[in-house]
Amino acid sequence: MTATCSPSSSIHFTMHLLLLIFVLLILLKFVHSVIWVPYRIQNHFKKQGITGPGYRLIVGNTAEMRRVFTESRSKTISPFNHDILHRTAPFYHRWSRIYGKNFLYWFGTVPRLSITNPDMIKEVLMNTGSSYEKFEFNPSSKQLFGQGLFGLTGDIWAFHRRIANQAFKMDRIKAWMPEIVASTLKMIEKWEETGKGEDEFEIDVHKELHDLSADNISRTAFGSSFEEGKRIFLLQEKQMYLFSHAVRGVYIPGFRFWPTKKNIERWTLETEVHGQEERLGVEEIIDECKTFYFAGKETTANLLTWTLLLLSLHQEWQIKAREEVLRVCGENEQQIADSLSDLKLVHMILNETLRLYPPAVMLIRKAT
Ligand code: HEM
Repeated sequence: MTATCSPSSSIHFTMHLLLLIFVLLILLKFVHSVIWVPYRIQNHFKKQGITGPGYRLIVGNTAEMRRVFTESRSKTISPFNHDILHRTAPFYHRWSRIYGKNFLYWFGTVPRLSITNPDMIKEVLMNTGSSYEKFEFNPSSKQLFGQGLFGLTGDIWAFHRRIANQAFKMDRIKAWMPEIVASTLKMIEKWEETGKGEDEFEIDVHKELHDLSADNISRTAFGSSFEEGKRIFLLQEKQMYLFSHAVRGVYIPGFRFWPTKKNIERWTLETEVHGQEERLGVEEIIDECKTFYFAGKETTANLLTWTLLLLSLHQEWQIKAREEVLRVCGENEQQIADSLSDLKLVHMILNETLRLYPPAVMLIRKAT
């Protein structure tokens, strides 16, 4: 008896075999990148004495990070003290106590080595070779600061940076002084008006200082007043809130295109910001504007808020700082611009506030 095999059944067999090999390859790749590589990296660091919260399949430690974050937000802060790490970087606070100052944690399948030693940080930030590069943000960040300096790397970053550097030459900064003085005076006059005839009155200083720094950036960088830029700042603030949600989760490719409630909100804001900035035209300029609005406003306003709060708690330093400003600056705007570097005590106070309450609590770099 002989058995024959028709050409169509042998094609079927080959196709099934190829499909099986394909599925096996995908499975192998999955096991390699989601199980084998993370555990190998974890062991590699363990041998050097660096431990951390153990790797969990696919999600890493993000679920715990979210939980710790929510937990810390639900607690009220009282009484006032400088011990704020548990609130600003809750997962760092928790893990550094258990595993030491250098530890390894997992953002999905991506390992992150947390370091706080100034010498190590210096080595990373001052490295002139190409061992470290800027971290690629989750694509949802693009709606917040677009493809501006924050998100750019390599030659395009260098090109944008050369242009941006022009704006921060000392003589340019000095030329902004009349605008900065004008908007600060406007704010102080408003405060005085509010307190007229009152023994005690309340002002939301944090909000006022956000409006002040927004006004300053609008005037100095864009020549318009805050009133015109107000809508953009509002939209950027909403984007920032949505972004802060997005960065706490693992990035799932394509998820930002799903019409979830938060994604729809993001798209609507993005369209509106573009509508507001159409005067500007070019996409790249829009992205840099977003970067400057975002990077300049939040940081400066928060630093000023903490500085005023600390000065109100330490009035002896407030008196000394006021004396220095009056002695060094005088009334003349040009004199203020020329004597900024003589404000030694004010510099010290700002630096100490930055040390205690840094507007940027962590920096991320990618090892190449
Ligand atoms: C107290 C005030 C400020 C603080 C603490 C602060 C902090 C920082 C930090 C830590 C970075 C580095 C981020 C990184 O490399 O990962 C950065 C970058 C940057 N900041 Fe600020 N900043 C402040 C004010 C401003 C202002 C007023 C502007 C603009 C008007 C600005 C624009 C930028 C830009 C454009 C970058 C990106 C630079 C680049 O990648 O080349 N910042 N800032």
